[in-house]
Amino acid sequence: MNVLGRYTRLLGNLRSFSAPKRQHLSTTTQTVTLIEGDGIGPEISAAVQDIFAAAKVPVAWEKVNVKPIVLPDGHTTVPDECIQSMKRNKIGLKGPLETQIGKGAVSLNLTLRRTFNLFANLRPCRSIEGYQTAYSDVDLVTIRENTEGEYSGIEHEVVDGVVQSIKLITREASQRVAEFAFQYARNNNRKTVTAVHKANIMRMTDGLFLSCCRDMAEKYSDVEYHEMFLDTCCLNLVQDPTQLDVLVMPNLYGDILSDLCAGLVGGLGVTPSGNIGFDGVALFEAVHGTAPDIAGQDKANPTALLLSAIMMLRHIDLQEHASRIEDAVFKTIREEKVITGDLKGTAKCSEYTQEIINNLN
Ligand code: NAI
Repeated sequence: MNVLGRYTRLLGNLRSFSAPKRQHLSTTTQTVTLIEGDGIGPEISAAVQDIFAAAKVPVAWEKVNVKPIVLPDGHTTVPDECIQSMKRNKIGLKGPLETQIGKGAVSLNLTLRRTFNLFANLRPCRSIEGYQTAYSDVDLVTIRENTEGEYSGIEHEVVDGVVQSIKLITREASQRVAEFAFQYARNNNRKTVTAVHKANIMRMTDGLFLSCCRDMAEKYSDVEYHEMFLDTCCLNLVQDPTQLDVLVMPNLYGDILSDLCAGLVGGLGVTPSGNIGFDGVALFEAVHGTAPDIAGQDKANPTALLLSAIMMLRHIDLQEHASRIEDAVFKTIREEKVITGDLKGTAKCSEYTQEIINNLN
């Protein structure tokens, strides 16, 4: 089966990101794999579960443990319980996971992306009404290649004091993320796809990525196609982000640019994301970390995980539930009465959660 064929079904699901509201409330319960995460993970996961319960969302949570397992060959994997749960449910929601820097273990986030072949990371960045930032009308989407590039994990010591990290780019991974970006743009009435690159310096790796984007642009002639150097893109994003629409890029650039974009709309505490794989498989997650400085203190802002869960609801076609909860979140933020410290308020996570529940129409 060709690249397009393998995820036609998934892309069909993604039409729901901008589909007109449907007038039905599904009552069939869908089981979703829940990885609560470390640090503030359990607190913000509890907030999402409480809000979903109050909104009577037909979702049953299947909590799984993702304590990493190091295999005899040194590779890291996740417990079979998690793999089986995701295989069964296809849809997951994930809190942040701790990665110990420089301890030799592969990031569990990377392990999950590789295990479930979640090839694209999708982050819509939209200004939140009532939440003051430098720009009030940001509406862009970053699509990041999620499986290779600078994060291939191929590193070694050449000689003492000299280490090497290999940036691996393949045609297959570049084609599928490029095609995903164009399909996403087409299905969501987005006008432009911009490929972000440094092919002037990394001629072979970024050059291959770019040529895959160009090929795809020819197939999707209804979508405008642009190319932009990474540095120019950073400049344009901070000077006038409203000029940009859908951005597609290799792994590392996506990691950095998507955080930059999050900063434009209020920071990591309010930015959702989805990791998209084949055949409808998707793992939605907050993009912030475990916030160890505030963990266990009822201070965390659960908005990013909640907005990720709302993206998940749209992905599984629970549009009405998604919109109802989203309206309650935005109303709570707009009113500024009960908001968490990172949003310049004084409310606890539990108080903010309750206020969202109170604001459910
Ligand atoms: P971090 O995002 O955990 O924290 C950065 C700052 O933002 C801290 O001051 C924290 O209190 C604040 N913050 C983050 N999320 C917040 C929220 N929801 N509400 C209120 N304040 C919030 O980044 P840091 O400190 O670099 O990483 C801590 C750990 O998280 C590390 O082990 C890292 O590897 C892991 N991490 C995991 C990610 C994931 O699972 N997707 C992503 C980023 C980091």
